[in-house]
Amino acid sequence: MLIKNAIKYLVVAATFIVAASACEVDPPIKKELPANDIRMIIPEGWPYPEYDFTGNTLTKEGFILGRKLFYDPQLSRDNSISCGSCHQQFAAFSHLDHNVSHGIDNLLGVRNAPGLFNLNWNTSFMWDGGINHIEVQPIGPITNPVEMDESIANMVTKIQNDASYTSLFNDAFGTETVTSQLIFKAIAQFQGMLVSYNSKYDLYSRGQTSLTSSEQNGLNLFMAKCNTCHTAPLFTNYEFMNNGLDTIFTDAGRATITSLASDSGTFKVPTLRNIALTRPYMHDGRFTSLDAVLNHYVSGVKNSSTLSSQVAGGIQLTTTEKADIIAFLKTLTDNTFKNDERFNDPFAP
Ligand code: HEC
Ligand code: HEC
Repeated sequence: MLIKNAIKYLVVAATFIVAASACEVDPPIKKELPANDIRMIIPEGWPYPEYDFTGNTLTKEGFILGRKLFYDPQLSRDNSISCGSCHQQFAAFSHLDHNVSHGIDNLLGVRNAPGLFNLNWNTSFMWDGGINHIEVQPIGPITNPVEMDESIANMVTKIQNDASYTSLFNDAFGTETVTSQLIFKAIAQFQGMLVSYNSKYDLYSRGQTSLTSSEQNGLNLFMAKCNTCHTAPLFTNYEFMNNGLDTIFTDAGRATITSLASDSGTFKVPTLRNIALTRPYMHDGRFTSLDAVLNHYVSGVKNSSTLSSQVAGGIQLTTTEKADIIAFLKTLTDNTFKNDERFNDPFAP
């Protein structure tokens, strides 16, 4: 495991200049990126990230390699499923309208694919926090029998034998020898660049726009009733909590990892950034709309021994207040991120 001790001087203050859409196309891989476009981003007012590319220096070449790997179906057993199959950019890298993941041979998983962005701030990965480092996370989906079902050794052989990767590995890491470690480092560089910080809410926070009265009222209500768990600016406190979905747990959540009764039915508090893009909702995708989520908090909270006291008895909201919170949640959509060409599938025409 890598030591993630922060090298503070690496901090690069984020600029709010959005990349010009000057990508040159070099079929079939989009290779060119605007100069200086690949750098660690720490938006103003955000904490220093957990993962700052220590031991995996972020470069344009590493990012380009990672992007190709992320979208490459060769990472799956029958070359049919890529990371991007379940993590789609237009859905903030979640799997739109799939309540649980849909992998190889059309097999269904048990959990809802979360959006992928701001991962450098994660203290753990997956709904149960079972993975603790971004550079080992891909082992999970690649080897999962209902996701990509490929062995690490076989994947390495396929990538090594694909001549289109030779110069990419050389450019990124100075070697033509493919290893799983280098594959995961490159994917971490791609995923670590997925920073979403240009929503309407962000513009508002930076004094660059104002909110409507409904959005403003929703923000005030959110701060009073939701922010202790979904804490701004990342909109999660990264803790494991039970928000009252069930009385009996078919998925033990965090307890799958810790075996502690006190963790039973608790899941990682998800970020609410880009939430309007990532339906369905909750670890099992049981709710298809934000309206259904709000109705859950108002009148659907179920009792159990691990239920968080903050939602016990429900959260009181009028119909107008629910609508205002939803109006606020929609200000967390980051279209700049969703449309950022740097993150596009390089195999796409
Ligand atoms: C078959 C669909 C599927 C494929 C393919 C897939 N994922 Fe996922 N991904 C998921 C699901 C479902 C989860 C949540 C799993 C869980 O919590 O147990 C997830 C979770 C994640 C997370 C954790 C996010 C967080 O906030 O905790 C990351 C990172 C991730 N995937 C990256 C990848 C990468 C990289 C690949 C390719 C190597 C990949 N995924 C392939 C469905 C998929
Ligand atoms: C006690 C902490 C807590 C409070 C308070 C709380 N939530 Fe949550 N929220 C969670 C947890 C935990 C989950 C994930 C539960 C799961 O999937 O098992 C979640 C899930 C969600 C989701 C679905 C996210 C996704 O990606 O699927 C939305 C939307 C949401 N909450 C909105 C709100 C709103 C709006 C409020 C205030 C009215 C609120 N929450 C209050 C803990 C909380």
